[in-house]
Amino acid sequence: DEQELKKVFIGAIDAGTTSSRFIIFDGTGNPVAQHQIEFKQKYPQSGWHEHDLKELIDTVRECVEKGTQAFIDDGHDASEIKCIGITNQRETTLVWDTETDEPLYPAIAWPDTRTKKLVRDLKAQKGAGDLQDLCGLPLSTYPSSVKLKWLLSNVDAVRKAYDEARLSFGTVDTWLIYQLNGGKQNNVFVTDATNASRTMFMNLHTLKYDEKLLRFFELDQKKIHLPEIVPSSSPDAFGTIASGLLKGTRITGCLGDQSAALVGQKGFTPGSAKNTYGTGCFLLYNVGEKPVISKHGLLATVAYHFGRDQKPTYALEGSIAVAGSGVKFLVNNFEFIESSHMISDLAATVDDNGGCVFVTAFSGLFAPYWIDDAKGTIFGITQHTEKGHIARATLEATCFQTKAILDAMEKDSSRALTELAVDGGMSNSDLCMQTQSNIIGIPVDRPAMRETTSLGAAIAAGFAIDIWKEFSELKEINQAGRKVFEPSITKEESAKMFKKWGRAVEMCRGWVA
Ligand code: G3P
Repeated sequence: DEQELKKVFIGAIDAGTTSSRFIIFDGTGNPVAQHQIEFKQKYPQSGWHEHDLKELIDTVRECVEKGTQAFIDDGHDASEIKCIGITNQRETTLVWDTETDEPLYPAIAWPDTRTKKLVRDLKAQKGAGDLQDLCGLPLSTYPSSVKLKWLLSNVDAVRKAYDEARLSFGTVDTWLIYQLNGGKQNNVFVTDATNASRTMFMNLHTLKYDEKLLRFFELDQKKIHLPEIVPSSSPDAFGTIASGLLKGTRITGCLGDQSAALVGQKGFTPGSAKNTYGTGCFLLYNVGEKPVISKHGLLATVAYHFGRDQKPTYALEGSIAVAGSGVKFLVNNFEFIESSHMISDLAATVDDNGGCVFVTAFSGLFAPYWIDDAKGTIFGITQHTEKGHIARATLEATCFQTKAILDAMEKDSSRALTELAVDGGMSNSDLCMQTQSNIIGIPVDRPAMRETTSLGAAIAAGFAIDIWKEFSELKEINQAGRKVFEPSITKEESAKMFKKWGRAVEMCRGWVA
């Protein structure tokens, strides 16, 4: 019962694109302690985006220590934390030396577009047209496969390690779990099915590595160590924490962050959907136990796989590369505002976008367009344009792309969404969420506790050790204080705005530079 659940605690590690954090939840879904650290974003060349592998694990370790210390300072004992869940930025590609555990190159982060030309070449290759049916993803700069292929062709140390069969590949989940378990000595080298579904190496139907996919990317499993694919919730697949305050605590859950947010929003029934406005913005729509391969620019992905006798649940996904990172761009590159949370106030200094449309195509444009060579472009600037207009146009860009994704989803699933659950940093802005509702013409439903990604990781971990046994037991979690934004403009007004966006997207195609 509720009193008992308040005495059970689960730790959630959320390794996002820009920060690491650790949140401790009680069994009612209430966060009781946390710690967060931002880490460095490296942009060594235009279109390149890297993270340091050591910094990824070091910041996670520090968050776990400091979050746990805060929990202890609050009168608890570390042993009250029963298990740990991990959630992470997906696709980001890491390589290290199997023999020494040393990184062989920085992590290539998911928005990185250095593979643009490679992708063009791969698309022309025989068999390229068959990939999406097998793995659910279209060929683009986004998945891990092309990033790994780039590393093998361009970095001598990586190629040499491959030739000598001592190359380990992983996404962020794999690296963190491996390191938290103490590295090589314990050799817990795994990935969960949601993360594996972002690599292009896994067959979406069997949840196993697929020879045909590996062959297309010229990978020989005898030369590269690929992590074992396991369910997202498991009592023994992810090992235990090897050192620090939580030494000996089991890791029992692992989900890619967008899957975690869907779980945290309790999107367990086919037809439910959530949109998470983080660094990027990702809409996941639960399609049930069979994957739906998109014909309209969306991705098919594993939503979650809780293991045991349960079948995996699949989702259709609309991925937007730029959301919060567009706001950060205004903060860091132009000092429009001091910090991201002030964007809403700046946008509210004007009544509308003043005719400005900002296609925030910093990584090309992802779903449903997949225009690799698009560049960020602001249309409609005049002498009248103020910072507020640009701020509004920045927020609206994500809202418009979400609308385009929902239109594609309706075509793929032949069902229209009736409500959208939202979370993530930008969802804190009432102005942005009202705009979102206006543009998509359906209610937007926001929970009071917006750490749904971490909550989802905690749920996956808790299920593995029977803190909950049925999804129905989660019914009350994070229900209080939800806010619903209803559309407040006419369909005609909304359609007019969206038409302009469509025009802007067409015009930003093919910019050469
Ligand atoms: O696919 C990339 C995604 O997992 C990153 O999420 O929240 O860091 O934008 P986020």
